Amino acid sequence: THVVVLHGGISAEREVSLASGQQCVAALREAGFEVTAIDVGPDLAATIAAIRASRPDVVFNALHGRFGEDGCIQGVLDWMGIPYTHSGLRASALAMDKVAAKAVFHAAGLPVPAHRLLEPEELEADDPLPRPYVVKPVNEGSSVGVHILRKGDNRRAEIAQGWRFGRTVLAEEFIPGRELTVGVLGDRALAVTDIIADAGEFYDYSSKYAEGGSRHVVPAAVHPTIREQAMEVALAAHRALGCRGATRADFRYDDTAGEPGRLVLLEVNTQPGLTPTSLLPEQAAHAGINFPALCAWMVEQARH
Ligand code: DAL
Ligand code: MG
Repeated sequence: THVVVLHGGISAEREVSLASGQQCVAALREAGFEVTAIDVGPDLAATIAAIRASRPDVVFNALHGRFGEDGCIQGVLDWMGIPYTHSGLRASALAMDKVAAKAVFHAAGLPVPAHRLLEPEELEADDPLPRPYVVKPVNEGSSVGVHILRKGDNRRAEIAQGWRFGRTVLAEEFIPGRELTVGVLGDRALAVTDIIADAGEFYDYSSKYAEGGSRHVVPAAVHPTIREQAMEVALAAHRALGCRGATRADFRYDDTAGEPGRLVLLEVNTQPGLTPTSLLPEQAAHAGINFPALCAWMVEQARH
C-alpha cells in the first residue's frame, strides 16, 4: 500500500502539522507502508498535481486547521476519488466550526458551555458575558487566538482591535477547574487524560508543544463517574458529528465545588495532534496500541 502523507499546510498550525507529519511518516514506514510525504503549501493546483503524480492508495491527512481540518482538503480528495484518513468533509466542517458543533452537541443532549457569537466591534464595546469568560476564534486549533478575560483585566479593547481571525469572535463561559481530554478510535473511547499546564495560565500553544510545557495524567485522577461520563460524551460527540477514524474531545471539568462536579464539552478535534507531545498517541499507548499500530489503523479506516 502506497500512502501519501499530507502535512504542513497554510494554517496557523503549520508547524504542528509538520511535526505530526514527520512522526507519522516514520511510523508508517516502520509499519511496512511505502510512504511519500507532501509538504502542502499555498498552491492548491500544485498540491493536487503532486498527489496525482504520487498515485497513492491512501492519503494520510496530517494537516491541522484551516483547509486541512475544515473539509476543504477532504472535498478535494473526495473529488479525486482517493481514500483518506480521519473524518470526511461534512464532519470536518461541522467540527471545525465551534459554534455549529456546539449546536449539534446541544441537540444531542451533550453538555456545552454558555456562549455567544459576536463581531470584534461588539467585543470592543462591551463584555458579552459575565466575567470570567474566554474569547476564541470560531475555527482555529491549538489555542491560537484564545484569551481568558477575568475581572479587572483591561485587554478587551486591545484584543478586539487586533482581532485577525475573521468577522466573528466566539465568547464562551469560562469553566474553572481542570482540562480533560478523551481520544476516540471509531467506536472506542481510549482513556481520559488530565492535563496540567505548568507554565502558562491555561493549556495554551506553548504548554501544548514545548517540552515539559504540561503534564499529562492517564488515566485522569478524577471521580469514576466523571471518567465514565467523559468517555461516553466523547463517543456520543464523535457520532453526533458523523466523524470517522480518530478524534479527540476536549473538556473542562469544574470540581471546584466538590465531586463529582460539572463536565463540559468544549470541542471535538477531527485532526488530533500526532506530535511527540500529543495526547491521542499517549492514550493509544496506554491502551496498548503503539504509534506505528495507531497510524496503520488510521490507514485501514481510510474512506472517501
Ligand atoms: N489542534 C491540535 C492539533 C489538536 O487538537 O491536537
Ligand atoms: Mg482544537
